[in-house]
Amino acid sequence: MYKTFDSALIPHSELHKLMLGAIAPRPIAFASTVDAEGRPNLAPFSFFNAFGVNPSTIIFSPSRRGRDNTTKDTFENLKQVSEVVINAVTYSMVEQMSLASTEFPKGVDEFQKAGFTPLISEKVRPFRVKESPVQWECRVRDIVETGKGGGAANLIICEVLLVHVNQEVMNSAGLIDTRKIDLVGRMGGDFYVRAHGDALFEVEKPLTKPAIGIDALPLSLRNSTILTGNELGRLGSSEYRPNADELEKIRLFPSIKNILDNEGLSDKAKLENLHLEIRNMLREGRKDMALAAGFLL
Ligand SMILES: Cc1cc2nc3c(=O)[nH]c(=O)nc-3n(C[C@H](O)[C@H](O)[C@H](O)COP(=O)(O)O)c2cc1C
Repeated sequence: MYKTFDSALIPHSELHKLMLGAIAPRPIAFASTVDAEGRPNLAPFSFFNAFGVNPSTIIFSPSRRGRDNTTKDTFENLKQVSEVVINAVTYSMVEQMSLASTEFPKGVDEFQKAGFTPLISEKVRPFRVKESPVQWECRVRDIVETGKGGGAANLIICEVLLVHVNQEVMNSAGLIDTRKIDLVGRMGGDFYVRAHGDALFEVEKPLTKPAIGIDALPLSLRNSTILTGNELGRLGSSEYRPNADELEKIRLFPSIKNILDNEGLSDKAKLENLHLEIRNMLREGRKDMALAAGFLL
């Protein structure tokens, strides 16, 4: 059962909570700007993402406050000086980042208040945050105000000029190592998520050829009482159906042969045992064998 909300009928504050709760986890842009007098400002924004590389496009939104329709210092600064450094937020900085989000009076330097170290940028006036492992020096290409009322977004469309990456978070191929960078994301309410340990997992993409799809799997697999949607998704992401040779080989594979040749098992029990074995094979990374086994009954 769903509860359905009409965005035109519910208060903005409720729509905001629904967005924050379900459009998550969101990356956090820790945006460093300066005002016309060159005074620094630092604040986090999770209405943020990357959108393209040609031209390089990063967008974040220091929105109008819902409660009193005032604007944020970051937004006002960007209208005066159209340059920003967006700093990545990692677990080791999360409490200080949160402190920097306090609504200090205009002109207060959040670098000092939150204890971050300013680093001089190469192409723009705002400082970089030394404690952040990735710092994007950006020029603002455009600002789109989606409205003039409280809660309206101000889309800051940025072009990346330089990106600085601390080599401690890089792997030997010179790429950012997901296991080293330890990023945090913003969830609903006061929740954050930390991208490390068991929270990280890989899903192989079917890249070279179109995948066969779940609808190409035998009915016995699709109607399985054992296999989950994720497991069927992984089988359906295969590029080929198993051929006759593969079917013959898997039929003779000891654990499969034991199931199929077991006279004591009903047809239903054979199918269930076969699907449990398919699960084991998937867990061990033997996807081709798992797929072939799935085509046996
Ligand atoms: C993790 C986090 C994410 C936030 N994301 C946003 C956001 O996307 N848009 C926004 O307007 N405010 C956001 N805020 C609140 C601003 O950081 C806060 O209003 C801050 O005081 C604005 O600072 P400024 O006036 O110096 O620009 C966020 C706060 C936190 C802690």
